[in-house]
Amino acid sequence: MLRTHTCGELNIDHVGQTATLCGWVDTVRDFGGVNFIDLRDRYGLTQVVFNPDAGDEIVSLAGKLRNEFVIKVVGTIRARPEGQANPDLATGEIEFVASELEILNESLTPPFTPGQRVLPGEDLRLKHRYLDLRREKMMSTLVLRSRIIKAMRDYCADNDFIDVETPILGRSTPEGARDYLVPSRVFNGKFYALPQSPQIYKQIMMIAGYDRYVQVARCFRDEDLRADRQPEFTQLDIEMSFVDSEDVIGMIDGMMQKLAKDILDIDIQLPLERLTYDEAMTRFGHDAPDLRFGMEIVDIGEIAAECEFGVFKGTIDAGNFVRGVNGKGAAATYSRKRIDELTESVKDDFGAKGLAWFRCEEDGSLFSPIAKFFTEDQLNAIKTKLGAEPGDLLMFIADTFEVSCKSLYSIRKKFGAEFELYDPKQMHFSWVVEFPMFEKDEDNDRWAAMHHPFTAPLDECLSELDDAPEKSRAKAYDLVINGYEAGGGTIRIHDSQIQQKVFGLLGMNEQECEERFGFLLDALRYGAPPHGGLALGIDRIVMLFAGLDNIRDCIAFPKTQRANDMMTEAPNVVEEKQLRELGIEITKKVEPLV
Ligand code: AMO
Ligand code: AMP
Repeated sequence: MLRTHTCGELNIDHVGQTATLCGWVDTVRDFGGVNFIDLRDRYGLTQVVFNPDAGDEIVSLAGKLRNEFVIKVVGTIRARPEGQANPDLATGEIEFVASELEILNESLTPPFTPGQRVLPGEDLRLKHRYLDLRREKMMSTLVLRSRIIKAMRDYCADNDFIDVETPILGRSTPEGARDYLVPSRVFNGKFYALPQSPQIYKQIMMIAGYDRYVQVARCFRDEDLRADRQPEFTQLDIEMSFVDSEDVIGMIDGMMQKLAKDILDIDIQLPLERLTYDEAMTRFGHDAPDLRFGMEIVDIGEIAAECEFGVFKGTIDAGNFVRGVNGKGAAATYSRKRIDELTESVKDDFGAKGLAWFRCEEDGSLFSPIAKFFTEDQLNAIKTKLGAEPGDLLMFIADTFEVSCKSLYSIRKKFGAEFELYDPKQMHFSWVVEFPMFEKDEDNDRWAAMHHPFTAPLDECLSELDDAPEKSRAKAYDLVINGYEAGGGTIRIHDSQIQQKVFGLLGMNEQECEERFGFLLDALRYGAPPHGGLALGIDRIVMLFAGLDNIRDCIAFPKTQRANDMMTEAPNVVEEKQLRELGIEITKKVEPLV
């Protein structure tokens, strides 16, 4: 090693000793002849002093030091003068008096420094990721990520899981997103698909008798990106044999308890809270609700059916819903103008037709432009149902179940953050279970798998597959942390006939099934054990454990919202010769990336 200690290691016990440090110049200070620098590495900062009595050569060399130069210094450790200790720094009680200095490498003037208080724009950070990754927050997040993955792996190893790698060049897997394709040179015109998940491979491992599989797996999905989505992301992918939902959920309960303890030193009670999908939608309007606060959705259909307000009554008569939430204490901040803005946003974003509201006045009465359409008894009933108190703002959506879910979920989420209805440091883990097997694929007017097509229905829903597929519920479970879907999985179909039936419901005829999934159907016919599993979104879990709200900050080399890499400028054009070998001709003019 070029050094004897790291920059975070020296303390009062080392006073009088000689040491060698290596690192980056974090800050340079010149106090009339005495040069101070803070020397930085992954482990911390050490204050280095260049005294004039160290000799002209070293003093003049020290004068050349600039931000981000890489240096090696030999010196002795001394206690900082009285009153100059820095309690915020692990090395804050000492300073390092240099006797030798070597500049290992210079640096251009960086476009931003790792220590600067105000973060530069994200594009600049991503373009110079090597500088951005030097920031303390980036380092601590990546260290946290590494600890989380280690804890997950340790837990799996302790529970007899075997780590298996599965192919990256494979066949398209149906997780519902667009594939990233890789053209074949050997078979011109044919393509590999990068895995959206190792789903089929892990099922094959169960059929092959490996009993418990785990992989830290990279997945690729070409979909619209958001703050919690990346085109390539990492899963902790798990599969188990001879299990039912309870067993998989119980295994992950234990893992979350260990993670919470090892990483955050918090104790969580098991079993984790569980909601069915129907309950989550009814109470919170979403399948991954944030359970750190209340503000639950209340159905006032019975009152609406009796009232004189045409919109409400008409909605109920048409078989739809009138539901609302109570914005506790929100009346004072929500003026007419802000309510109008909120109304416009639910109209624009979710196709709601309006937002009806009532303000609870000082005297406890409800004020609203539509109050006149309600009897005193009806107003009182609304108050009671929503627990309204003076200062509260009650908001209602009269619409289909779906539109009311989306609109009220968004209002609840907005109010939760705005009125600080939860402690941002709290971690809340829960499960949402029994998802529907299918959802309507509106574009193609047919059923689509809600999770993926290998998902088994609940035993009691098997018969519904024929009569009422929309009613059938799945052996599916999502892990929800603070309102994010942190993981999801299912018990799989292990019977080739049921599998074929589900494929059929998804609009695939027998020939298509054989073409796309013949190998899986074959495998199921050669002695498939009951099996199931799940995948945890590692990037999201790191984001939540780190208290961040963007997964790009939890990934060393993330992509932008447009799925490009600012640093390497991928994707990019390739040589004509490469295209010829692949049998590919570009017909579209290629614009340079911005
Ligand atoms: P699913 O598609 O639900 O299940 O993915 C599992 C978890 O992966 C995370 N995730 C993502 N994270 C970042 N960026 C993305 N684009 C992204 N997409 C998903 C989420 C999600 O809960 N094969 C099944 C698992 C199984 O059935 O065993 C699967 O991939 O946290
Ligand atoms: P209108 O009768 O259209 O003047 O609407 C009166 C109030 O009811 C306004 O505040 C509208 O935003 C609201 N409103 C209209 N349609 C709906 C609806 N479908 N759900 C909830 N509120 C509505």
